[in-house]
Formats: sequence, C-alpha cells, structure tokens
Amino acid sequence: MLTSFAVRYVRRMKNTGPLVLVLVALPACNSPSGSPGADTNADADADADAGTAPTGATSADSTTDADPTTGQPPTTATTTTTGGDETGPTYYRDAKPIFDRKCVMCHQPENIAPFSLQTYDEVSTFAQIIVPAITNRIMPPWPPGADCTSYKHDRSLTDEELATLLGWVDAGAHEGDPADAPAPPEPEPPIAYDIELGIPEPYTPSLDVNDDYRCFLLDWPKDQPSYVTGLTIEPGDRQIVHHVIAYLVPPDEVPLYQALDDGDPGPGYPCFGGPSGEATPKAQWLGAWVPGSANGELPEGTGILVKPGSKIALQMHYHPIGVELSDQSTLKARTAEDVERIAFLLPIANPGWPINTPPMLIPPNAPDTLHAFAMNIDTIMGWVYAEEGLYTLPMLLHSASLHMHTHASSGKLGKLGVDSACLLDVPRWDFNWQGIYELEEPVPISPTLDQIYLECHYDNTGNENAILWGEGTEDEMCLGVFYVSTPKIFP
Ligand code: HEC
Repeated sequence: MLTSFAVRYVRRMKNTGPLVLVLVALPACNSPSGSPGADTNADADADADAGTAPTGATSADSTTDADPTTGQPPTTATTTTTGGDETGPTYYRDAKPIFDRKCVMCHQPENIAPFSLQTYDEVSTFAQIIVPAITNRIMPPWPPGADCTSYKHDRSLTDEELATLLGWVDAGAHEGDPADAPAPPEPEPPIAYDIELGIPEPYTPSLDVNDDYRCFLLDWPKDQPSYVTGLTIEPGDRQIVHHVIAYLVPPDEVPLYQALDDGDPGPGYPCFGGPSGEATPKAQWLGAWVPGSANGELPEGTGILVKPGSKIALQMHYHPIGVELSDQSTLKARTAEDVERIAFLLPIANPGWPINTPPMLIPPNAPDTLHAFAMNIDTIMGWVYAEEGLYTLPMLLHSASLHMHTHASSGKLGKLGVDSACLLDVPRWDFNWQGIYELEEPVPISPTLDQIYLECHYDNTGNENAILWGEGTEDEMCLGVFYVSTPKIFP
C-alpha cells in the first residue's frame, strides 16, 4: 500500500532536497535510541532492551502482599451473618464486578476468548490459570506500557483491581451472597450504523501463494457529501484474514479502479502494494482492521468526508492456512451530514523503505535491530490527499496505532516539537493484539512545525534469513497510523 506514495516521495525528493529531520528527546517515552530518519542496527542495545521487565510484573508482585481488602466497595458491604466467607472478599461482592468490567466482553460464549468467565462456577474452574495470567499482565490483553500516556477504553486492570482479585483468590475464592452483587454494568449502546457494505460473494484465496492480496470495489450509497463518524470492519474468517484496509476512492478516480476490477476475472482484482495497481493516485484511508483491533465510534465531533460517487476499495490481505477457506468481510459505517472537525487517517512510514532506499534491513540472527523515522504531517498529507496544501491549520491528534509483523519486539510513537509527547509505547509487541489507541486527551499538533516519530525494534534471533520491508507476513513493516482532525474550513 505504501509503494505508490514511495514513488511520489522519491520524485519529490528530487525536487525539494532531503527532509530536514529534527531530533528532540521524547520526555515521557524513553528517549529514542537512534536518530530519526537514520537506520541504526542497535545490536549493542539488545541486552539492555531484552532485560527490561514487562511493566506490570513489578507492581503485580508487590501487590500480592497488599491488604486483600483494598479496593472493596465500602458502602455496599453490609455485613451479613451467613458464615465465615462474608468477612473476607467474596465473588459476588468483590470479584464479579471486576470480571464483568474487564473480562466478560471477550470471555463469553460466541466471543473471541476460549472460555466464559460470566459465572462463579466458570471463574472458579479457571482460578488457577487466572492468577498467573493477570499477575503477569497477560490478561486482559493491553499492550501499551503504562508510562507513556493514557487512553480511552483502557482494558488493563488497575493495581487496585489486581490486588482485589488476587486477594480474593488468596482468601479461598469464596462465593458469597448473590444479593451482594452490584448491578451489572450498562452495556454500551450499539452504534446505529446506516451503511453496510460487503464483499459481494464469498472469495476463496488461492492456496498456491502465502499471501493473497485482493481488492474489492464497493459502491458508496450516499448521494450527498457525508461524514463517517463510526466505522467497523468485520473480517469474515479471522483464520485467513491478515489485514483489511478500506481505501476511499474519490469519484474522479473511480474509472481507473473500475478498469482494474473489470480486467480481472472473478470478484475483485489482485492488488499487492496498493489498491490502484501501477498508477499512483492519492489513496486515502477510511479504516482498517488488524488482529486485535476493535473499531466503532470515531472520536467525538469528528468525521471522515466521503463524496457522493466515491467507492471503497477494500484491500484484503489473506494468509491461507493450507485448507480452503472462504471469506466475505463486511464494513459498516455510521454517517452524519455535518461534523465540527474533519478527520483524516494518516499512515506514516519512511517512504523509502518499500523501495529499499534505504532498505529496512533486519540482518539474520540480529537480536535487536532498530528502524526509526520522523516527518511532518503536511508532507504526508500532500501524498495521501488530493487537496494538497490545504492542511496547514493546527490539528488535533486523536489516536495512534502501530503496525509491525511477527519479528517485531517493541515500538514507540511520538510527537517531536516544542511540546514533544509520547503517543504510544509497546514494550512487548504481540502481532495478535494490535490496537488503535484513542488518547484520553487529543494532542495538538502543527502539521508544519511538529514531526511524527516512529521507532520499531525487531528480534530476528534464530532466523538465518535477512528481512526487508514487505507486505507478506514473513516480511516486516514499521508503520504508524494516526487519526487527526482539523477545523472545518470549507463546506
Ligand atoms: C479483549 C479480549 C479479552 C479480554 C478483555 C480478556 N481476555 Fe482473557 N483471553 C482472551 C483470548 C482471545 C484468550 C486466548 C489466548 C490469547 O489469544 O491470548 C484469552 C485467554 C485467557 C486465559 C488463558 C491464558 C493462558 O495462559 O492460556 C486466561 C486465564 C484469561 N484469558 C483470563 C482473563 C481474565 C481474568 C480477564 C479479565 C481480568 C481477561 N482474560 C480479559 C481475550 C480476552
């Protein structure tokens, strides 16, 4: 997907000379261990990095000894007299509210977790594996380190919640009285999607290739300009879907994409490298799905503009697993006629990496290779969006996400400038839990003066092959994706 903007980037570099990159230490993240824009093979740092304990481990250890009664809601704990259990922590009074809040959204039938944690029986069956999973902060899955910044919808257990659960298990995991259970949390109201689009018929990726990239053109049904304010992409079969990117095809570029689709038999067309084949029109992102990501509400007051006559090119990356499986992924959108701020999804990487100038080389067996890059937003806006030069007004950065593959070990995203800020720090990268993280407070960012910084670490121990940038699962990437908004200055 980055190939086309890489080509444009190289053209532009010839005209304007090299980008000037500024190195400013990120105050909240650890300072970047290399000069942004320069590729450093940081083998020397490997020991220090590899030895860093997962953030949760130390606090978890120290809370094991903590008073098990901390964190109990004091007011509802009216003392009952039905037995010894009631003086110590109980399932209904102390543990269930935490399971309901932090576990049950995944641990319920028909959801992604392998077993349910909705009842006392279920929880006590799994008590022995729950303790190590929560103590080591494996569960709930929440990859961001705690020292960077705070996010909405943080799934992790607070230190207090962790102490309460461990204290409850320690005291014998008693059931207690169902009457003590607080009211279950209000379920979030479902998003009222008004548009549902899907791959028109099931598609079965070829078993002959490791990675099958296929794009499907979907008609945008609105006949007025509209703003997407909520979006979800639902992969049809998670076993074979590696990623989905929904690109917005503006009306004047539809014929080009349509020709690609018409030129290939069967539903969709092959689209390795991007949805527009060899041509390089601006390919704007509308949304994406990667393993572990959830989408839904877009940040309040913002929306992505879609013009009537547009199409969506849904780029599917399939990674077949040796048996014939078919997929029919869908995209749902909620639209509004107007919003306060117009929003953009910005993919940011070194545009030279996809064309190996410079190569994003990860040598064989290297335990810690660092690749880093920084750039201004207005530069990237010019590549991705047609209305070049319009977007110099101060922006707000609402959410950040990082995309790497299976050899990655850790990564960071930040803003460099007068007010540098840490945006995301993932100390233990897990391909299966890639999230889109919405900042608790949006960060103001100047498209011209500030830079976005990304830093990716890879562990290639035990692999005799060098790795380069590529879209295949065995290749690597270092891609930041940001959701930014700007005041609406045109109708
Ligand atoms: C966002 C979804 C999600 C949430 C929230 C979540 N889990 Fe899980 N859990 C999973 C999935 C999926 C697995 C299967 C293993 C995997 O994919 O990592 C799992 C596996 C587990 C396991 C087995 C781990 C192992 O060692 O094999 C335990 C125990 C567990 N979860 C406990 C919890 C508890 C306790 C909570 C809440 C405090 C919780 N989980 C919250 C999705 C979730």
